[in-house]
Amino acid sequence: MSDAFDVRLAGPEEAPLLAGLRRAWVEETAMSSVDDPGFEERFDEWMLKEREQRLTWLGRVGGEPAGMVNMLIFTRMPRPGQERPSRWGYLANFYVLPEHRNSGLGTEMLDALTDHADAEGFVRVVLSPSEKSIPFYERSGFRAAYDLMVRPQPTGRTQRRQSSWGS
Ligand SMILES: CC(C)(COP(=O)(O)OP(=O)(O)OC[C@H]1O[C@@H](n2cnc3c(N)ncnc32)[C@H](O)[C@@H]1OP(=O)(O)O)[C@@H](O)C(=O)NCCC(=O)NCCS
Repeated sequence: MSDAFDVRLAGPEEAPLLAGLRRAWVEETAMSSVDDPGFEERFDEWMLKEREQRLTWLGRVGGEPAGMVNMLIFTRMPRPGQERPSRWGYLANFYVLPEHRNSGLGTEMLDALTDHADAEGFVRVVLSPSEKSIPFYERSGFRAAYDLMVRPQPTGRTQRRQSSWGS
């Protein structure tokens, strides 16, 4: 942990900073810059549309954006006899800039997210890890799940390969 980290929930006004991190992630993976001048506007629209059910944490180092993670909140169907439906979260888009990795920022953001889930009484938090990030999540109490089923997109209809479900 470091005092230099600042981890907070992001608002719509921080969309440009989050879009910058998203672009950095895609360009890191592509190992080149991506020419798409409309991306930031589409990102802004997505943030606005998602804000009712998705929380995003922005991590800063020395005041500058350095990482992000979000949680999509799934609210179960209301049922008679239960005033408030139970909820769970899907963790997605976890990214820390390469120059800030392995210094604890990711753990601090994950703590912020799981603290929120616990405080709100979420029944679980789900995610689809990359191979390399499994020990990182395990250290925060995540375990492999064997009671889910998945139907991948049928072959032949694949548009673009993505590294994980929530990416
Ligand atoms: C996963 C990630 C968000 C962790 O952030 P961080 O600030 O480096 O995290 P911390 O410093 O708190 O913890 C370091 C741990 O992260 C994991 N990690 C480090 N580099 C990683 C990488 N490139 N990809 C995945 N996990 C990584 C390791 O478990 C490491 O612990 P270790 O040194 O004991 O192996 C960050 O590494 C990252 O952005 N990776 C690339 C994108 C990604 O894989 N996202 C997650 C997809 S599920």
